[in-house]
Amino acid sequence: MAKKLWGGRFNKALAKDVLSFTSSINIDKTLAIYDCLGSIAHAKMLGKAKIIPAKDAKKIVKGLKSILTSLKKGTFKVDKGFEDIHSNIQYVLTKKIGKTAGRLHTARSRNDQVVTDTRMYCKDTIDALIRSITLLQKSVLGAAKKYVTLVIPGYTHLEHAQPVLFSHLLLAYIEMLERDKERLEDTRKRIDVLVLGSGALTGTTLPIDRNYVKKLLGFKYLSRNSIDAVSDRDFIVEFLGALSIISMHLSRIAEDMILYGTKEFDLIEIDERFCTGSSLMPQKKNPDVLELIRGKTSQIYGSLVSVLGMLKGLPLSYNRDLQLDKEPLFSSIETINEELKLLAGLFASIKINKKNAGKALKDETIFATDIAEYLVGKGIAFRDAHDITGKLVKYCEKHNKNISTLDIKELNKFSKCFKKDIFARLNPESSVRLKKSIGSTNPVFVKKQIKNWNKILKV
Ligand code: ARG
Repeated sequence: MAKKLWGGRFNKALAKDVLSFTSSINIDKTLAIYDCLGSIAHAKMLGKAKIIPAKDAKKIVKGLKSILTSLKKGTFKVDKGFEDIHSNIQYVLTKKIGKTAGRLHTARSRNDQVVTDTRMYCKDTIDALIRSITLLQKSVLGAAKKYVTLVIPGYTHLEHAQPVLFSHLLLAYIEMLERDKERLEDTRKRIDVLVLGSGALTGTTLPIDRNYVKKLLGFKYLSRNSIDAVSDRDFIVEFLGALSIISMHLSRIAEDMILYGTKEFDLIEIDERFCTGSSLMPQKKNPDVLELIRGKTSQIYGSLVSVLGMLKGLPLSYNRDLQLDKEPLFSSIETINEELKLLAGLFASIKINKKNAGKALKDETIFATDIAEYLVGKGIAFRDAHDITGKLVKYCEKHNKNISTLDIKELNKFSKCFKKDIFARLNPESSVRLKKSIGSTNPVFVKKQIKNWNKILKV
C-alpha cells in the first residue's frame, strides 16, 4: 500500500533525504485527533449528500472512530515514514477498512484539510489558555487578599516614587491578564471559520453540503472565498500576536518578582520549589523559573516574526511554505501554557517581607508628591508646590535630615503654608489612604476591586 497520497503521475521514487526534508509528521501529529474529527464530519456529509454510498460513509466513520479511540488511548503509533499525519491516518484507515477508505478524500484537499484541523486545534487551545490565565489570576488575587493593606515603595524609573499597596500592584497584573484573555477571545472569533469544502483552491464540482459540516464541527462561520480559505494564515499571526503580548506580560511580572526577590530589594520571598541552586556557590537560590519565563519571551516573539516572514511575498493560494506555520504556533502555545501553570504555583506560595517593606519606606522623600499636593490643598499652584517640595527634599538631603524631624519654623522657610498637619502626611498608610481618584491605590478602592475580581473570576 502506498504511503503517499499522490503517487499516480510519478515514476521515480523520492530522492534521498527528500522525505525527511519535506515531512511534517513530527510536528503535525499534534493535529491527529482533529484530523479524525474533521474526516468523520466530512465522511458523514459525503454520505448524506449521496456523493458516496451511505454504507461506505458509515464504514469510513466507524474506521475513523476506532482510530480516534486509539489516539485518545495513546496506542496509535505515528509512523515517521509518512509525509504528514493526514497521510498516516488515511493509510491506517485503508488498512482497517480496505479500499472504501479511498472515498474519504472526495471533494477534499490537504490544503483545506490542514487549515480545518489547525483551526479546530486553535479553538480548543484558546479555551484551555483562557482557563489557565484565569487560574493564574485567581492565584494572584489570593496573594492580593493576603497582603491587602501592606504598603510598599512604588517605583518609576526603578527609583522610589510613591507609596503603593502591594495588592494594588498585584491587581495590575490581573488587569494585564484580563486583556490577554479578551485578545484571545477576539482572535477566536476569526478562527471560528469552517474552510473545509474549499478543495485545493477553487471549491468542487461535487454537491457538498458545507453548512452541514460546519454544524457537525461546531464552527460559527463559513469561509466565503476558497482561495482565501486555503491561503489565509492571519489567524495564526493573530494568535501568535496575542501569545507574544501574554509572554511580554509574563516577562514583566517575572522581572518584577526577580527584582523584588533580590537581597537589594528583599521585599518578597519566592518559594524554594521555584528556584534552583548553583553548582559552585553553595549559598545561591536563583529564580530560574522566572528568568526562563523572561528569556523564553524572545522565542515567542521569534515565532511571530518567523510566521510573518514566511507569509510575506507568498503568492496565493497554497504553497508548501505554509507548512512552516505549525512548529512556531505549537511550541509557543506549549511554552505559554507551562508558564501560566508555573506562575500560578509561584504566586500561591509567595511571601512578603513586611519588615523590609517598612524599612524601605523610611526614606521620606517618597512622600514628596504627597507634600506637594498638601500645598496645593492650601491654595498653592502645583508648579510652585513642586518647586517648594523639591527645594525641601534637597535641603534634607544636604543636611542629612528626615523631613519629619524638621520643625514648623524650618518648614516655613520653604512655605508659610506648612502647618502641623503636614506631619500626619508623612507615613505610608495615610499616603495611600488619602488618595481620592478612582483607580488609585486607596485601600477602599482596592478592596472594592478585589470584590469585583472575586465576582469576575468566580472565586
Ligand atoms: N503538511 C502540509 C501542511 O501542513 C499539508 C498540506 C499539504 N498540501 C500539499 N498540497 N502538499 O501544509
